[in-house]
Amino acid sequence: MLGRVISIANSKGGVGKTTTTVSLAEAFAAEGFKTLVVDLDSQANASLLIYGEDGDERLYQAINDYTNVSDYLRENFLGECFAHMNKFIVPNASDVSYMGKRLDLSLVPATPGLRRAERELIYILTEQGYSMTAIEGRVGLRLRQDMADLRKQFDIVICDCPPGISAMTEATLSASDLIIVPTIPDFMSTLGLDLFTGDIIQSLKKRGLSSVPVVLATKYDNSPHQQAVLHAMREGASDPDIEYDMFETVVPNSADFAANPVELGANPTLAQKWQGEALTTINMLYQEVQARLAAQTTSEAA
Ligand SMILES: Nc1ncnc2c1ncn2[C@@H]1O[C@H](COP(=O)(O)OP(=O)(O)O)[C@@H](O)[C@H]1O
Ligand SMILES: [Mg+2]
Repeated sequence: MLGRVISIANSKGGVGKTTTTVSLAEAFAAEGFKTLVVDLDSQANASLLIYGEDGDERLYQAINDYTNVSDYLRENFLGECFAHMNKFIVPNASDVSYMGKRLDLSLVPATPGLRRAERELIYILTEQGYSMTAIEGRVGLRLRQDMADLRKQFDIVICDCPPGISAMTEATLSASDLIIVPTIPDFMSTLGLDLFTGDIIQSLKKRGLSSVPVVLATKYDNSPHQQAVLHAMREGASDPDIEYDMFETVVPNSADFAANPVELGANPTLAQKWQGEALTTINMLYQEVQARLAAQTTSEAA
């Protein structure tokens, strides 16, 4: 088992977090790695994109079966019980196949109720006298313990974070080996990038972790403006005072990345879901992520 945890995060919405999560997870699963996606965004976009054509029904099922991340939070922090994240996993969640085989992809789905569950958690624990830091600490500890067990069952766990930084996101980031920050190289999207990566670093340092977030340029349209911003982002990455790294892979702005799972129909192949340049780009990113994880293993062994 590789047992690696990757988080995809950015305080901004619409930058390609969910698309990166699902395409990367499917690339790992296609290579034969046992893969789990944890959807932490109440919009449940990653869950729907993984489920495919029957997404709505399957999400409804996950709500009825209590197999979702909202019930994980409720059971652990609002009740008195201890419920391992294991209990909330939907196996065989993907309808995508590769080389004639269904992807081995499991999912802890998000539901629209997640926002409320998070709010209730903060409210009730604050009432009980917990400070925000104590709440984050408590959620973080639980999540790290659960992730430690999930690492033994899965090669790769990928967490799709909501925009902004919540107690749950902070906790997830602190349990991760690699944090990917999708960013559109335009003026608006890069505003606050240093701040966000700086926040991540601070939060990781508090917990004694040393990994640096890795920025992925997304929705790149090759306009002079984006070329200039991409260049500035790369310069930033090489500046020792700015603590982020960057992938070589640049994700183009292309309809190939925005396939509608319902229009795709039942049981698409990986190449049908990620057409044209999308699949090539995803494979490049996959190789880079693998190389980074391998480098971590080497430095841990040294
Ligand atoms: N590289 C891309 N090119 C074009 N559209 C994209 C690309 N990546 C994502 N999209 C589309 O942009 C929207 C936001 O992407 P999403 O992955 O949901 O971002 P986030 O999770 O950061 O909010 C979606 O409609 C998605 O299909
Ligand atoms: Mg998203």
